[in-house]
Amino acid sequence: MAKRGIDKNRDKLVLELGSQLDKIKDVDLLLEKILRNARIVTCSDAGSIYVRTAAGRLSIRYSQNDTKQKEAGPDKKLIYSSFEVPISQDTIAGYVAETGEMLNIPDMYSIPKSRPYRHNSDFDELTNYRTVSSLTIPLRSESGEVIGVLQLLNALDEKKKVVSFSKQLEPYAGLFANIAAGALERAQLTRSLINRMIMMSSMRDPKETAQHANRLGAFSVELYERWARLKNRPPAEIEKNKDTLRIAAMLHDIGKVGVSDLILKKPGKLDSKEREVMEGHSFIGYQIFEQSCTESDLVSREIALRHHENWDGTGYPGHIDLSTGAPLEGRRQGLKGEEIPLFARIVSICDVYDALSNVRVYKDAWPESRVLKELKRLGGKKFDPELTELFISMHENIKSIASRYPEVN
Ligand code: C2E
Ligand code: SIN
Ligand code: SIN
Ligand code: FE
Ligand code: FE
Repeated sequence: MAKRGIDKNRDKLVLELGSQLDKIKDVDLLLEKILRNARIVTCSDAGSIYVRTAAGRLSIRYSQNDTKQKEAGPDKKLIYSSFEVPISQDTIAGYVAETGEMLNIPDMYSIPKSRPYRHNSDFDELTNYRTVSSLTIPLRSESGEVIGVLQLLNALDEKKKVVSFSKQLEPYAGLFANIAAGALERAQLTRSLINRMIMMSSMRDPKETAQHANRLGAFSVELYERWARLKNRPPAEIEKNKDTLRIAAMLHDIGKVGVSDLILKKPGKLDSKEREVMEGHSFIGYQIFEQSCTESDLVSREIALRHHENWDGTGYPGHIDLSTGAPLEGRRQGLKGEEIPLFARIVSICDVYDALSNVRVYKDAWPESRVLKELKRLGGKKFDPELTELFISMHENIKSIASRYPEVN
C-alpha cells in the first residue's frame, strides 16, 4: 500500500533526524538543530523553540522562517528579539507547556472562542508575516516535566502552499519531540556543569560571569561560521566545530582560578610583577585541560593556552616548554600569524571586543564607535586582519547576540 510506504519513509526520516541530535553537546546549537529538523519532519515554513526558564516562564530561544530568510538573503541572519511568555493557558505555547498536550491549530485567526488561548497577532504584525496553521508540541524530560515547547508554523504542501498540519503527522512529531527532549536534557546538564565551573572562577574574578562566557561562546561560533562559509568548508565539519568551539570558548579564561584575587580584583593598572602572574592564566588553563581525551578538551586546551597570542608575535605565552610553562630559549617568543590556532585567533578578537564594550574593575565600558575603531586599529597587529574585517562587517549580528546575554547587575 502506497500510504504504508510513505509512513515507513517518515519513520526513517524521524529516526535519522533524531539521531543527529545525539551528537550535539552545546544547548544553543542543539536547540537550533531541533527546530530545523522538526521543520523538515513536518514540512513547515517557520517555527520557534521555547525553553522553560528557572523562573518558570517560557523563553523563546530560536525562530526560523524560510520566507523571511529568502527575503533577507541567504547569508543574512534574521535578527529577532528575545521574549518570554508565562506558563499559563492564555497563550498557545503557555497552554502546551502547562497541559503537556500537543495543539494542532488549522487557522490561527479562527480559534474557537471557547478555547482559553488566542493567537497573538502582534507578532505577525511586527514581523510582517501571516501565521495560518500551527503545530505546538511539548518537549518532556525523562521524568515527564515540560522543559520546552516546539512551535511549528505554516505547514507547506508540495506546491509550497500553506495548509494545515495533517493529523497523521502528529505521532511523528511526538516521537521526534521525545528524542529531542532527551538530547536537550543531556545538553542542559553539560551547560550547567560549565556554568558552575565559570561560577567558581567568578567568585575569584567578578567579571568572569556566565554572561561574558555565553557572549564569547556565541560570538566565536558566529565568527567561525562566517569564516568557514567563505572558505567553503564542508557543512558537516562546520557543524562539528561550532559545537566544540562554543564550549571551549566559554572556558577560555578558566585558568584565572589559579590567579590571586588580589591581582584579579585590583582596581587600577597592574605593575609588571602582577602582570606576569596574571599572564600565567593561559598556561594554568592549559594545565586544566592537559589530560585531554575528547575533541572538546583538546580545543579548550588550545584556546586557553593561545587566546592572548598576537598576530605580530607580541603576545603570550609564546613558545614554551609545555611541561613547565617556561619560555623556550629563556626568552619570550610569541606565536605569529597562522602559527596561532584559528580558534584562538577567533576567541582573541571576540574577547577583546567584549572586554572593551563592558566595564572592568580597571576600565569603563567604551562606546561602540570607539570599540570598533580600536579593533580596526589592531587588525594585522594584534589580530588576524581577515577575521577582524569579517567581525566588523557582522557587527550588527554581534550586537544582537550580546543583547541576549546582558550583564545582570
Ligand atoms: P580581560 O579584562 O578579560 O581583558 C581581555 C583582553 O582585552 C586584554 O588582555 C586586552 O587584550 C584587552 N583589553 C582589555 N582592556 C583593554 C583596554 O583598555 N585597551 C585595549 N587596547 N585592550 C584592552 P590582557 O591585556 O592580556 O589582559 C588579560 C587579563 O588581565 C584581563 O582580562 C584582566 O583580567 C587582567 N588585566 C589586564 N590589565 C589589567 C589592569 O590594568 N588591571 C587589572 N586589575 N587587571 C588587568
Ligand atoms: C504563542 O504561542 O502563544 C505565541 C505565538 C502565537 O500566538 O503565534
Ligand atoms: C595543545 O596542545 O593543544 C596546544 C599546544 C601548543 O599550542 O603548543
Ligand atoms: Fe584571558
Ligand atoms: Fe575573558
